[in-house]
Amino acid sequence: MNSGGHEMIKVKRLRHVTFTSPNIEAQLDYYQSIIGLGVIQRSDGRILLGTESEELTLVLERGAASQLTSIAYEVAPNLDPADLQKSLASLGIKSEIRSDTAPGTAKALVFDDPDGHRIELFSRWEFCKAVEPIRGLAVAKLGHVALHTPDPGRTAKFFGDVLGFRVSDRIEENFVFLRCGPEHHAMNFARGTDGRLHHLAFELRDASHMHQACDLLGRNKFQILWGPVRHGPGHNVAVYHYNPDGYLIELYYSMDLMLDEELGYFEPRPWHHDRPQRPKTWIGLPRDVWGVGPAKEATEFSPEMRGVK
Ligand SMILES: [Fe+2]
Repeated sequence: MNSGGHEMIKVKRLRHVTFTSPNIEAQLDYYQSIIGLGVIQRSDGRILLGTESEELTLVLERGAASQLTSIAYEVAPNLDPADLQKSLASLGIKSEIRSDTAPGTAKALVFDDPDGHRIELFSRWEFCKAVEPIRGLAVAKLGHVALHTPDPGRTAKFFGDVLGFRVSDRIEENFVFLRCGPEHHAMNFARGTDGRLHHLAFELRDASHMHQACDLLGRNKFQILWGPVRHGPGHNVAVYHYNPDGYLIELYYSMDLMLDEELGYFEPRPWHHDRPQRPKTWIGLPRDVWGVGPAKEATEFSPEMRGVK
């Protein structure tokens, strides 16, 4: 879609998410000792955490409720925020240019998605080294964000039209997987009553890293609620557990890749249901290729249901 001569926005990469939490110290301890992020910067009530690859990944802010408030994406280099702002305005979306939302990001364009999350877009960022040794799993990166939404179709259309995401798969009318690069999904939308987080996923390197993750979760009494499993959509190997704020966290590796958008199919792999494996709507069960199905707690997905305030 060409929006009145303005450049169409195309998100390239998921960069970082911002969470508020009343239990910021418990969150910090979990992300340091289990997930393996390191503190980059710390001020009163705000902690920036990054990976061993020195990418800003998570911003923790003290707040009354535990919720995901903001998602930051990288757009193509050298895009001027003022041009992006015009492009959004032509789609009827009000946005604001902000300074210093993240280290090394001089200017970011900030606006709200239809479900009230703040979206931050920027083309410049800097690697940020943690000021402490990385412990825990030292995950490779933040892989994807899955959000609830009252209307997955409408929200997927917004992310497609406004941010350039492509649909990788759907599960019936209830779940949409979107990609912004070669990986099968960077965003998911699941039907729900509001825009709260469904799950947050961190990428592991390989099978031995997954084995290490399961041992570390077990040793620290984090119950594995789903998996290890090789999923159908995306064909990633995944395990799920709840973090101390009651949000579902996925650890995964080996996700499908669409290396060439023009070809329109995912790189062939032995466990694919279709040859070639193209984006489609998955209907019915089982979808997982192999593995342990979800515990009842894993499908409830709501901190309130687990008594977390
Ligand atoms: Fe996921």
